[in-house]
Amino acid sequence: MCKYNVGIVGATGVVGRELLLLIEERNFPLKNLKLFASEKSIGKSIDFRERLYPIEVINRKSLAHCDFVFGCASNEIGKKTAEILKDFSSIFIDNSSAFRYEQNIPLVIPEINGHKIESGTRIIANPNCTAIILAVALWPIHKSFGIERVIVSTYQAVSGAGQEAMQELENQVVQYSKNEPLSINVFPEQILFNVQSHNSAVGENGFNGEEQKVIIEVKKIFSYPDLKISATCIRVPVLRAHVESVNIEVKEKCSVEEILDVLKNTSGVKIINDPANNDFPSSLKASYQNLVLVGRVRKDLSSSDCGFHLLIAGDQLRKGAALNALQIAENIIGLKSEVKVQGCLS
Ligand SMILES: NC(=O)c1ccc[n+]([C@@H]2O[C@H](COP(=O)([O-])OP(=O)(O)OC[C@H]3O[C@@H](n4cnc5c(N)ncnc54)[C@H](OP(=O)(O)O)[C@@H]3O)[C@@H](O)[C@H]2O)c1
Repeated sequence: MCKYNVGIVGATGVVGRELLLLIEERNFPLKNLKLFASEKSIGKSIDFRERLYPIEVINRKSLAHCDFVFGCASNEIGKKTAEILKDFSSIFIDNSSAFRYEQNIPLVIPEINGHKIESGTRIIANPNCTAIILAVALWPIHKSFGIERVIVSTYQAVSGAGQEAMQELENQVVQYSKNEPLSINVFPEQILFNVQSHNSAVGENGFNGEEQKVIIEVKKIFSYPDLKISATCIRVPVLRAHVESVNIEVKEKCSVEEILDVLKNTSGVKIINDPANNDFPSSLKASYQNLVLVGRVRKDLSSSDCGFHLLIAGDQLRKGAALNALQIAENIIGLKSEVKVQGCLS
């Protein structure tokens, strides 16, 4: 079996660490592993499969000979990584938003538009976490009934803002319990016991960065520029997994049962829809899961026969980031005859 040299840029962050867990869990065919982070992490190492891997900084020498490089750092580092990799044959799968909106760079969720990866594709953008979770649940409905319009409101976990944000919530829990002042660095205000507007910058149109990503990215992933879609993104004091309340209007009249039937037969989706027991998707149920949870599918009483509500939950560190990125690599390996991964030596 072919094995691959893998590099992870941002290996000490929440997405990078999740990716390491998934490489192990899914038994990704690994030949060699190189782990990168900032200067401040030099001297640290990460234990993986009973071996200590030292953290390195990215440069032409350290990044050479990787078949796959996963970007799990900022846009700036994503661009720097891509610049270094330009002269190599590596495939760069980037979790940042640095390349998502470039027309010639595919923005990929394998089960929806994996075919966008062509022979010679060297950079693949991994979509925004909220957009991935939403798109995975809506795609099968769109394919069956045609989606006309989407309105999504989110309840997003703090880990979506990285390691430091997660630490901030945990610190505030301890500080609160000791009656100490709460330290606030990442979020604009206290996140403990507080539901607040997403912390990304608000643009001139009144939509914050996260909302704009969801709107633009779902259209690009679905190759559906005319999709009517709007979003409100909210941060809630949970550690992990995003929940999304979604209202849709479909083109072809259908029933709740028909929507549930379509979702039942979709890989990557799990239905949790038990009104009698009030058992529906939640952030805790979605945490550490690879599947996107969907439930509370019901008719929108304010709309015609074509309006529905859904509740979706997904682990944004898994399907919303690391898992989707790894699935892209797995997809490429599966398509090896079409997409050649040079440097596969074994
Ligand atoms: N968190 C999520 O749910 C999520 C979901 C989808 C996409 N994303 C995207 O994924 C990326 C990573 O997010 P994250 O949440 O994992 O952030 P994070 O926890 O803050 O981790 C950031 C990582 O970047 C590394 N880094 C910083 N400067 C670097 C440099 N000069 N060279 C190499 N690495 C450097 C950090 O290393 P040090 O430890 O040395 O600082 C750390 O490993 C971001 O672009 C984010 O927008 C995140």
